[in-house]
Formats: sequence, structure tokens, C-alpha cells
Amino acid sequence: MSEEGFAAEQIDTSRAHPARMYDYYLGGQDNYEVDRVAAERVVELLPDIHMAARENRSFMHRATKTVVGRGIRQIIDVGTGIPTSPNTHEVARSIAPDVRVAYVDNDPIVSTYAGAKLINDGNAAFALGDLRDPKAVLEHPAVCDLIDFEQPAALLLVAILHFIEDAADPAGLIRAMTEPLAPGSCLVISHGTRDLHPPERLAEVGKVYSGSTSTLTLRPREQILSFFEGFDIIDPPGLVQPPFWAPEAPVPDDPMLRGLGFYCAVGVKR
Ligand SMILES: C[S@@+](CC[C@H](N)C(=O)[O-])C[C@H]1O[C@@H](n2cnc3c(N)ncnc32)[C@H](O)[C@@H]1O
Repeated sequence: MSEEGFAAEQIDTSRAHPARMYDYYLGGQDNYEVDRVAAERVVELLPDIHMAARENRSFMHRATKTVVGRGIRQIIDVGTGIPTSPNTHEVARSIAPDVRVAYVDNDPIVSTYAGAKLINDGNAAFALGDLRDPKAVLEHPAVCDLIDFEQPAALLLVAILHFIEDAADPAGLIRAMTEPLAPGSCLVISHGTRDLHPPERLAEVGKVYSGSTSTLTLRPREQILSFFEGFDIIDPPGLVQPPFWAPEAPVPDDPMLRGLGFYCAVGVKR
């Protein structure tokens, strides 16, 4: 699927990578020793991280079904991660078979796996691109060929924004990515928060990620909420932790679920 040219040596297996650490949290096989060691250190600090990853992924599935249920037929999934079945296009097409999905990630290893595992049937494609360069993402042929900017689209920024430092202006990047979207388009965000775990433990988690290929910037709820400027958040459920975003079954009264360090929401462009 990927038409990106890069050498195998570009795939850095000497340092942990967040995409492969996330794959490990989800129980996947697409990770190396260096990722497992780093991920296990995070598990020691945050024993709920496996559950957080699964709940985040489950939110992504429900949010995708919701936006497709609202009539959206085109999705840009930025920071898509190593393919994990079901992927966005599979979830979307369980509701409407004609949904088009442009996948974007800045990691060559994700691109390699995307080529091997995502179905390229003409209605799904992968772009090697970086959220910190929105113009290049929006102008990438894989995005331009699939997305009609005259029609509403959904932009998925699921578990990616906490890898964008404040200095890179995440709010400005979101504005740049959503400005060309038609009214009625949806913005789907999940974001790691610093509100729900002790700061000293999160500082240690930050150190693990700073030894990886990305840094981690966990944010408070209010700042995550501000990323939806120009969008009406679908409320209920509002901006909540993943298990509580439109659950398909009653959520058990589990303190671990209530403590998961992510917030997520879906907004509709005015
Ligand atoms: C934790 S994974 C999330 C995967 C998927 N969105 C999900 O929630 O299941 C984060 C992904 O964001 C990608 N990523 C991090 N920074 C990025 C950037 N600046 N531009 C594009 N992708 C980025 C990583 O390579 C990784 O694949």
C-alpha cells in the first residue's frame, strides 16, 4: 500500500518507539526487545496502561461508528499506529461499505506494516506524514485523492497529540488540519492526561518516553477541551475518559476504569 520510499535502516530498533510500545500494551506482536523493556517499565509505574490502551482503542471504534452513523463517508486517521485489527476502515465499513480512509503516521515502521496489513482497495491509503507539517499532510496524494474537502470528513487524532510538544503548538496544528474541512465535519480526539495519576509517577513515565523516539506531554482536561475550539462537542457523552464515551454495555463500577489517564471526545464543526 505504501508508496513511500525509505530504507530498512531508517527503522530505528535501537530505541523504544511509542507505536511499538502501544502495540505491546495492546498485546500485539509487532514490537522489539527495546520496546518491551520500556513498556514494562511503564507498566510498573502505571499498571492500568494495558487497560488504558484497550479502552482507547475501543473508544476509537465507537467514535468511528458514530461519525459514520452521522453520514460521514471519509476519514483522515492521523497517528494511526501499527495496524491492529479491526482497523479504522474495517470498523467504518461495518456501518457503510463506501467509506474512504486516508491513514497518516510519521513512523516508517508503521508505513511498512501498513503496506503489509492494510487492504489497499482504492478506498484506503497510507501517507507517511507528520502532524507537525499539516500542509504536507493535507497535500499528500494519498489524502488529496481520497478526501473531497467540499464534503464533511472526520479527522481522527487518537492518542497522538500527547506526542506533540507545547512548543509545536498543538492547538495551531489542529486549526490548520481542520480549517479546510467542511461544516459538519467531525474531530475525534483522545489524549493522555496528567490529571489522574501522581505527578512523580508521571515524571518517571515521561523519562521512559524521553529515551524513546518521542517525548510525552500529558495535558490537563481544560487544555484538551480547548482543542475543540470551533467544534460543538457531542454531549452527552462530552469530554470523558474512554470507558464512559458512549459505552455499548453498562460500565462496571471499577476504580481502575475511573482512574484511566485519558480524555476523549468527538466534536462537530460549526
Ligand atoms: C499510541 S499510537 C496510537 C495509534 C492509534 N491512533 C490508536 O489510538 O489506536 C500513536 C501513533 O502516533 C504516531 N505519531 C506520533 N507523533 C506523530 C506525528 N508528529 N505525526 C504523525 N504521527 C505521529 C506514532 O508513530 C504512533 O503510531
